[in-house]
Amino acid sequence: MNADRSAPAGANNLDAYWMPFTANRVFKDNPRFLATAKDMHYATADGRPVLDAIAGLWCVNAGHCREPIVAAIRRQAGELDYATSFQVAHPIAFEMAARLAALAPGDLNRVFFSNSGSEAVDTALKIALAYHRVRGEGSRTRLIGRERAYHGVGFGGISVGGIVNNRKMYGTLLAGVDHLPATHSLEHNAFTRGQPAWGAHLADELEKLVALHDAATIAAVIVEPVAGSAGVLVPPQGYLERLRAICDRHGILLIFDEVITGFGRLGASFAAERFGVIPDLMTTAKGITSGTVPMGATFVRQGLYDAFMQAAPEGGIELFHGYTYSGHPLACAAGLATLDLYRDEGLFERAAALEPYWQEAVHSLKGRPHVIDIRNIGLMAGIEMAGRPGQPGARGSEVFLRCFDDGVLLRFTGDTIALSPPLIIEKPQIDRIVETLSRAIQATA
Ligand SMILES: Cc1ncc(COP(=O)(O)O)c(C=O)c1O
Repeated sequence: MNADRSAPAGANNLDAYWMPFTANRVFKDNPRFLATAKDMHYATADGRPVLDAIAGLWCVNAGHCREPIVAAIRRQAGELDYATSFQVAHPIAFEMAARLAALAPGDLNRVFFSNSGSEAVDTALKIALAYHRVRGEGSRTRLIGRERAYHGVGFGGISVGGIVNNRKMYGTLLAGVDHLPATHSLEHNAFTRGQPAWGAHLADELEKLVALHDAATIAAVIVEPVAGSAGVLVPPQGYLERLRAICDRHGILLIFDEVITGFGRLGASFAAERFGVIPDLMTTAKGITSGTVPMGATFVRQGLYDAFMQAAPEGGIELFHGYTYSGHPLACAAGLATLDLYRDEGLFERAAALEPYWQEAVHSLKGRPHVIDIRNIGLMAGIEMAGRPGQPGARGSEVFLRCFDDGVLLRFTGDTIALSPPLIIEKPQIDRIVETLSRAIQATA
């Protein structure tokens, strides 16, 4: 049969595509198509501009369709479309890894490539387990996550993750996983600007898990420095520092999932840099190529890498792990051009400079109907509304739809609105996002 099986053309046929994390039936009854994009805006199929208040999906940090990135991808596609990284390699992957290592804080200078945040997380968890094993501490098999955490959708990520809808359908998940409590408290921290003062003590719950399970059974703790998908939960002052200290005390590896917080979102290269806390492993994706080509990268402290190099038999493979598209040439080309753009336009510094304006703008929404909390750090914000009785998520969804119709794309998770614009945003665009959101919240009963 011919490859063109005479399917109805284009977007007129909505049947085949099973959309991710989407109410498929609702969407297909009333589809919303984005057709093109440039800088801060999308345009819908009928040419209506939509201001992007969420950087695509927390990823398009440099803005859309930036010419240097587009040119680099085009050039690379015509020069070397694909080459494996298993036993042979292409130079651009080494170049990309070296650039990333130079950007990372501390000695997080070894980089393992994958294709997504979920894979970067799986890679980090596997390296953590294997690290203890190669050092003769194979009893350390337990992984500790946190309530309300999002670490992607692989079995590793949902096991250490803490969002019930992402877990409950999928059986028993990984064995031997435990969770820290979430750090967010409406009672103590509502309407905090930046890091809340209350909550560092919640890191001490790790000591309780150590007392329960014994440190010799625990491989690693994984947290998002700022939880994104659960609705922008900012770490209490001193919390990450305490987690670091407890991990050090007990030989437990600390993993930061920086899939959202990396590449300038917090006005620094990574959250690790902003908070001055260096994890043992760090997972990244999204902003690494400004969303243009899928790529994930797991950063590893040099000592961990060295342990593998020393333990494996001479001439043998040190880690049985990798993806067909690890270090894909197009992703590396896009990544290098993206890192150049971040540097040349000073976008991380720009995010830091805009943070006070952003903070005041989003907090001006205090007092709007149903708004029970506003949280912010870097160029991220969460605006939480009380749920409508018996209809959790309905207000969030309605505000999202109103804003989209009014020309602003944002994200909702339950009844919390999440904002994370491209780092190239201008102050009048911040005003526009907040005004649009304000109107939508007012109009939502
Ligand atoms: C903290 C975090 N980890 C992992 C992921 C998963 O990334 P991906 O969707 O690229 O697999 C996400 C996605 O939003 C994330 O926010």
